[in-house]
Amino acid sequence: MVCYGGGEYRRPVVSGNWKLNPMTSGEAKETLKLLAANQRALEESGKDIPEVILFPPYPFIPLASELLEGTTVAIGGQDCSLHDKGAFTGEVSVSQLASLGCNHLLVGHSERRTLFDETDVEVNKKVHLGLNAGLRVMICIGETEDEFNVNLADAVNEIQVKKALAGVTAAQMEDITIAYEPVWAIGTGKVCDAPTAQEVHSAVRRVLDELYPNTGVAGRTRILYGGSVTPESIDVIMREPDVDGVLVGGASLMADKFSRIIDFSSPLLVRSPPRVLVAKEVVSCRDTLDESPIWDPRDGFFPPKHLL
Ligand code: PGA
Repeated sequence: MVCYGGGEYRRPVVSGNWKLNPMTSGEAKETLKLLAANQRALEESGKDIPEVILFPPYPFIPLASELLEGTTVAIGGQDCSLHDKGAFTGEVSVSQLASLGCNHLLVGHSERRTLFDETDVEVNKKVHLGLNAGLRVMICIGETEDEFNVNLADAVNEIQVKKALAGVTAAQMEDITIAYEPVWAIGTGKVCDAPTAQEVHSAVRRVLDELYPNTGVAGRTRILYGGSVTPESIDVIMREPDVDGVLVGGASLMADKFSRIIDFSSPLLVRSPPRVLVAKEVVSCRDTLDESPIWDPRDGFFPPKHLL
């Protein structure tokens, strides 16, 4: 078995799917104001933070963009029409989303698949529409409870991944994120236990390796977990090496809860890029590092007299 978990560094993503909530723009405004304040504080704290994406209902997209301006939170559409324009009452196209400042598109959520009969073929068309409009696409996959109970999770997820990605090139995979959302864990309070999620994520990565061999795609693609994620469960699930983030429903509607999820504690976020030390710094910690100083133009003079 190939284990990808520890190989590539994949920046974690925390995303929030508001679905058909809240009921009014006034409520949305209150939540967004709090979220923006929390996010600013988090960003100013100097901590490494994950990428954050919010998927509000279409009418609240401009409000979300306005109130989250100045933060790094990106906005996305929860779905899109299969059509570009025309006589399709009630639909919203990818170009309309992009023109509102959306950078992301969610496709294939299980609620769209089950409640609105969305097929794998339609999911695939939406993936291409999103990519062609310059959006980054998050594809949701996941098995039902019955499928899970008879050990069909891997088979179902494999089919969904392969059908959703039909015709997507390795280069385009840079703009794809997969969200594994077991249907039985969505909105039910039943969180998939972390080792099980890890197994599924690792299986999905193997499918990506099969689809895009020798390209590095499997190691680079971020695979998120979704389903009843809360501030209480986030730290545990994020410890799994193949879980690269989360897609949060209910808990993303409460700014403080969502911010706590964004501020999850993980060894993944303390990695900062290595820094080249100047000679003075190397010398000053030579006892610890047991290294010789390397002159750098930033030292300003060579060799530093007092170090000779
Ligand atoms: P939940 O929803 O967090 O409320 O379970 C997750 C989702 O549907 O994306």
